[in-house]
Amino acid sequence: MKNIGIVTSGGDAPGMNAAIRAVTRIAHSMDFRVHGFERGWEGLITNTFRPLTPRSVGGIIQLGGTILLTSRCPEFETKEGVRKASETLATNKIDGLVVIGGNGSFKGALELSKHADTLIIGIPASIDNDVFGTDETIGFDTAVNTAVTETDKIRDTALSHERVFIVEVMGRTRGFLASVVGLTVGAETILVPEVKIDEEKIFATIIENIAKGKKSGIIVAAEGIGDTRKLARDIEQKTGTEVRLSILGYAQRGGSPTARSRLLAGLFANKAVELLSREEGNRIVGLQNGKIASIDLEKSCKTEKPLDLELLRLATVLST
Ligand code: F6P
Repeated sequence: MKNIGIVTSGGDAPGMNAAIRAVTRIAHSMDFRVHGFERGWEGLITNTFRPLTPRSVGGIIQLGGTILLTSRCPEFETKEGVRKASETLATNKIDGLVVIGGNGSFKGALELSKHADTLIIGIPASIDNDVFGTDETIGFDTAVNTAVTETDKIRDTALSHERVFIVEVMGRTRGFLASVVGLTVGAETILVPEVKIDEEKIFATIIENIAKGKKSGIIVAAEGIGDTRKLARDIEQKTGTEVRLSILGYAQRGGSPTARSRLLAGLFANKAVELLSREEGNRIVGLQNGKIASIDLEKSCKTEKPLDLELLRLATVLST
């Protein structure tokens, strides 16, 4: 192993920079050279990279986003795109590639692994926390804390105006963020894409809460559940309560990573470089029951991470 490449791909997540820094410094300590490919898979297709050294990754541990830039790259979903990317890896004699990203990035990595000789290791970083093989992704804790801080502020105004708020958090297909945010802000209802929406139940909960003397409330909804604007209108009509919608949006993807996101970045990077130094590839690293471990890349891509529905039930009991 002489040359290691790093790429950050898909939606950015706080802690990606901490992971770039850690991979670079650990790899250099083992005498590997490190190339940082830019703009996600696009950098591999266009052969755009910069050398990364222990000094060039200084001062970034606390920064959100990714210094290597990222993108969603439709060209990489074509055979030609994957061919160009594997050619780039061969031309630059990249022995090991560290892919920092989420589910979509790992599916791309799996395809690339079938065409390139390079060993590939995935480091899970996504605010969605939807990667099978790790209990937690880099950036998830930061996004949870950002959303909780904002929702606590929304609770203040909900209480003062005696209103119900729907707080929409990110999560186009999965409800990991919504369920943890919902539980930790004391939401009365949590709506996730994995569970069919039962509007009658939502109305009934609000009416019961009013009868109990609760004049305001918080519903945390993942963006993937559908039209939250319409839901707000329906609740207003059916319950006679004033309802407002607050979409937290992209602020959840940015910001300085929490200590936990930085810690995971360091631990995952350490495992990733260790695997590469042993000439092991096509795996993703992760946190499994409190321990740093790794699983087969293909298995991670082909298995859906289960959402703990118990959190939704517990949130309902805690908010009575
Ligand atoms: O990074 C994950 C995620 O935030 C999803 O929850 C969200 O739906 C999606 O990215 C939006 O990504 P973009 O607008 O960058 O395509």
